[in-house]
Amino acid sequence: MTDLRQTAKDLVAPGKGVLAADESTGTIKKRFDSIQVESTEQTRRQYRELLFTTPGLAEYISGVILFDETIRQSAADGSTFVQIMDAAGIIPGIKVDTGAKPLAGFPGETVTEGLDGLRERLSEYGQLGARFAKWRATILIGGGLPTPGAMRANAHAMARYAALCQEAGIVPIVEPEILMDGSHDLAACEAATAATLQVLYLELAAARVDLAGLLLKVNMVVPGASAQVQATDDEIAEATIRCLVATVPDQVPGVVFLSGGMSDGHATSRLNRMNQLGGFLWQLSFSYGRALQAPSLAAWRGDPAKVPAAQAALAHRAKMNSLARSGTYDPTMEPA
Ligand code: 13P
Repeated sequence: MTDLRQTAKDLVAPGKGVLAADESTGTIKKRFDSIQVESTEQTRRQYRELLFTTPGLAEYISGVILFDETIRQSAADGSTFVQIMDAAGIIPGIKVDTGAKPLAGFPGETVTEGLDGLRERLSEYGQLGARFAKWRATILIGGGLPTPGAMRANAHAMARYAALCQEAGIVPIVEPEILMDGSHDLAACEAATAATLQVLYLELAAARVDLAGLLLKVNMVVPGASAQVQATDDEIAEATIRCLVATVPDQVPGVVFLSGGMSDGHATSRLNRMNQLGGFLWQLSFSYGRALQAPSLAAWRGDPAKVPAAQAALAHRAKMNSLARSGTYDPTMEPA
């Protein structure tokens, strides 16, 4: 248990956060489509190599979440990605769920799968060097959703996943994501996030999961992407902290946010605002995918000559989010 707790703490060490680079083959294809790069085993490998070999990354990034294909891949010089991370002092992690599937009896809702054979897969991932894992459940708001039944089904699966991870000596990140899709308001997101977290912590306790050896990854409380009225950073920061303080037990070492479709600037400025406000005991950090990678992808566009520019873009976003950990980020630090 001690190792698990230490790894969980290390992942949310002050000034550091997690890079989510665990896009499934389908999701990375969408990202590559946006920059007109064909998604092949080789281009995915080249792109991930660019990310993981970014000079100075370990100053701001504590851990990286990998996908099954990526944890088995190597850089051009023959060192495995895991070896590169270990040498830099970055903790390798692995996405282990197998995706959100329609939940029988609950039209429009999903349950995340991946429990079958998970003990054996975790054992292999541990041998490959993974020290933490991620499981993402998605919750949709609108038209009477989410239902208590779907929230409970996802929470139960996440608790069983978390228990298996801890048995394997791997820190589980449990990620219930209330999606930004829809026109709901801030209050609806706060209510759905609170209800999701309440049932999640009940299931984690029932499954005898050690809360000090686990991280929560969650959405910020925001209005739906197509809501008439959007919210200010202050409103979002206050609603998010109120929601988390009401639902997340104090023993949890850290809460990390996903970016979920927010702009990279918002992902940073909102985290910054929350860390300025304070009022919670856990570390409040980031585990961004798009909000860390978007400028880097746009700079790269598959061109080997653009690798240094793409790495500089990633290092910059990582540094800005590192500053947001202590509430010392300022938008004037962004390039004009
Ligand atoms: P985004 O920050 O792009 O939402 O990705 C984080 C993640 O890991 C989603 O599961």
